[in-house]
Amino acid sequence: MILVTRRLPDDLLEPLHGLGEVEVWEADEPMPRDRMLAALGSVRGLLGMLTDRIDEEALAAAPDLRVVSQMAVGLDNVDLDACRRRGIRVGHTPGVLTETVADTTFALMAAIVRRLPEAERMVREGRWGTWSPFEMLGADLHGQVLGIVGMGGVGRAVAKRAVGFAMPVVYSTPRPAPGDPGRPVPLDELLATSGLVVLCAPLTPDTEGMIGRAELSMMRGDAYLVNVARGPLVDTMALVEALRDGVIRGAALDVVDPEPLSADHPLLGLDNCLVTPHIGSASVRARRAMAALAVDNLVAGLTGSVMPAEHSPG
Ligand code: DGY
Repeated sequence: MILVTRRLPDDLLEPLHGLGEVEVWEADEPMPRDRMLAALGSVRGLLGMLTDRIDEEALAAAPDLRVVSQMAVGLDNVDLDACRRRGIRVGHTPGVLTETVADTTFALMAAIVRRLPEAERMVREGRWGTWSPFEMLGADLHGQVLGIVGMGGVGRAVAKRAVGFAMPVVYSTPRPAPGDPGRPVPLDELLATSGLVVLCAPLTPDTEGMIGRAELSMMRGDAYLVNVARGPLVDTMALVEALRDGVIRGAALDVVDPEPLSADHPLLGLDNCLVTPHIGSASVRARRAMAALAVDNLVAGLTGSVMPAEHSPG
């Protein structure tokens, strides 16, 4: 059996039907854990989401599982070592969302430096008295030093856009490649010099909590933190304190820890913090392309062909 853990457009799932029985969790909410574990008993191919935890327990419940195909590029929710030990192939969806996430990054950067959410709330709440020469002032986006943490596909696409905004780029990444746009610098230097620090790194044991109290205090007092990667890169409570105490000027977060954030979370009580619900790749084109690639990976994996985007264990 093939298990698809979320409702996806029928036309995109069509190729799966030639492979046998397909069970789709027909909901916009994640499949409850107990239901997923029970279903996994007879599953050969899993088309899963970043909200599904594919750990030892899930794999132990899935003795026939041959392929995990995730509709996301990030695979931090999948125990990749455990999959490798069991000979389970893992696919993901790099590339097709890169430019869309970079667009979102620029939207978040512009919104936080120019205080768009605050300004919009002012209008909606009837507090727009008149045009005012010194009200609702923000910072410029153009000309700011842009510090990119993690120079993968999204990092490069963000750096490419920075040219049009006259933003000098510095970046920090484990293995700088010749030709990457911008100047590679140690993380400390990036934090100390950037007007905007943008997190584009994958979540791994090495990057988890990489932005904590110490790193936030290395940032410029007028700088902004932008996270479009994974929430746990940042120590959330340290960020709340830094935003509240004016250690940095603001943050725009498309990803947070935890997700979802409850409406009474302290981050949401801060005017200098903008939070969006993990929508970096949420354009119609990108999400359809991600689903289609996840289907192609699954079909290829189950038929013994080359998967278009297989995660390589090395
Ligand atoms: C991914 O693909 O990992 C993204 O976070 C989904 O938008």
